[in-house]
Amino acid sequence: MPDTITVNVNGTAVSVPSGTTALAAILIAGAPSVRRSVGGSPRGPLCAMGVCFECRATVNHRRHSRTCQILCTPEMDIRTGEQVDG
Ligand code: FES
Repeated sequence: MPDTITVNVNGTAVSVPSGTTALAAILIAGAPSVRRSVGGSPRGPLCAMGVCFECRATVNHRRHSRTCQILCTPEMDIRTGEQVDG
């Protein structure tokens, strides 16, 4: 596996070290939030270990993915800031 891989965060290419989680890629990309609450408030990660579900985003067109539990793969498409239930 290469030392770095490129993923797309909200349409912008971001190079990350191999073994990086999708959540870390979002943070590296500088996205202002991971998702939005029902009320529209920006939300961010809390536990980073798969418990709180606050890091949900759309990964490769799969909504509500817990980004702290997903390792980046080349050309992964990550979308943040969507309004999701809960
Ligand atoms: S940050 Fe808590 S489940 Fe991902």
